[in-house]
Amino acid sequence: MKITFPEDFLWGTATASAQIEGAAYEGGKGPSIWDAFSGLEGTILHGDTPTVACDFYHRYEDDIRRMKEMGLKSFRFSFAWARIIPDGDGEVNQEGIDFYKKMIACLKENGIVPNATMYHWDLPYALQVKGGFGNREIVKWFTRYAEILLDNFGKDIDIWVTFNEPIATYVGLAQGFFAPGLQDERYAREAIHNLLLCHGETVKLFRKKNLPNAKIGIVVDIWKHYPGRPGNPEDEKSALVNNEINGYGMFLNSLFLGKYSDVLMDYMQENDYVPHIEPGDLKTISEKIDFYGLNFYNGLIDNMEEIRQREEKRKQQGGNYQDRPEVHTEVLVDVLDMLVKKYKLNIPIYITENGLAQTDTGDKESLLNDTERIEYVKGVLTHLHKAMENGADVRGYYLWSLMDNFEWSVGYEARYGILYTDYQTQERIPKASAKWYSDVIRNNGFEV
Ligand code: NOJ
Repeated sequence: MKITFPEDFLWGTATASAQIEGAAYEGGKGPSIWDAFSGLEGTILHGDTPTVACDFYHRYEDDIRRMKEMGLKSFRFSFAWARIIPDGDGEVNQEGIDFYKKMIACLKENGIVPNATMYHWDLPYALQVKGGFGNREIVKWFTRYAEILLDNFGKDIDIWVTFNEPIATYVGLAQGFFAPGLQDERYAREAIHNLLLCHGETVKLFRKKNLPNAKIGIVVDIWKHYPGRPGNPEDEKSALVNNEINGYGMFLNSLFLGKYSDVLMDYMQENDYVPHIEPGDLKTISEKIDFYGLNFYNGLIDNMEEIRQREEKRKQQGGNYQDRPEVHTEVLVDVLDMLVKKYKLNIPIYITENGLAQTDTGDKESLLNDTERIEYVKGVLTHLHKAMENGADVRGYYLWSLMDNFEWSVGYEARYGILYTDYQTQERIPKASAKWYSDVIRNNGFEV
């Protein structure tokens, strides 16, 4: 049987500035929080840094040629705020503007639709020093930056994303294993409120710019947790906390229902974490957007008994215990349904990211022969197709990622690309999945 997607379905790959561009201190760019964080000892696996990454800054023409050869219809990338405005709120760096102008022009010459994210985790370091997202002034800094982007690139870009996975800002401020590496939940909750305000104010600004062909949205990842033993109080509680307090519920309630959920509010009140909310803030945050970007990787089953056993095993095996979570891609159907039923979404959806990591064990052959990735993506696309047949309004799918790149705290060890990146030579080598994905695009589907 062949699975076929709608004719104008947008097939693409996704990336982000700090993960591919490199040239971290070139072309007038200022340092970002990831440049600073990765310079501290013990923050990133093997001491890796995003300084060179895939050197996309110098090699974008070759990479775009490869995209064209693979038949990609769209390319998702992000702007590095510190390349546009090195200190975040001061002078504009013309060299940075010129780089993106050339890169976007090259995409368009090759018939590839640009899908641009304004913020994918790389805050200018100078703004972090001034309090970053925890300082409400960020709304002014961000909307100025957004206006510069819209004025320079508004006419060339049809798909705009304000923020990618805002959870990363929470992780970086509350838990510390992402940049900037703080562990202050009170500050993190404040920051998330301000970040959502930046989003809402940017949507308002975008409407004023009158860009009739362009759309604006936000990308929120959903890792939905389910109680492993339904009815078991411990498992139920864990799923609730992971979804509503520490997961997607943190964003979707205010974005789409115009209020923080009762569960989250009660929790923040009990712990004195309630952010400063001014009248009108929630109205701004819930400004109507044109599409929702779903980053989907997996669903998670919270069986506390099993989780405890795994923890125990991990301790006994001295930290080398490799424990890959089970794959629950079928959850995508439920997630898409939840967006409509629970969060009342009535706008198109793009799957803005989906993919599978391989751990680099040094065995290049097996990395190139990535059948596991093909099987995984096939599973996701099969469930996606099923959900679309049931009415889910999904317009496109972006595989994470075009090429192996800087995977944040785990550096270069996790490889997500369909192109293998040789970090010594910067050669890109197509993996089996690149050929497979390009066939999927050409046939607008695949045999199951
Ligand atoms: C989510 C993030 O948006 C992206 O930056 C990251 O590399 C992938 N998922 C894989 O972890």
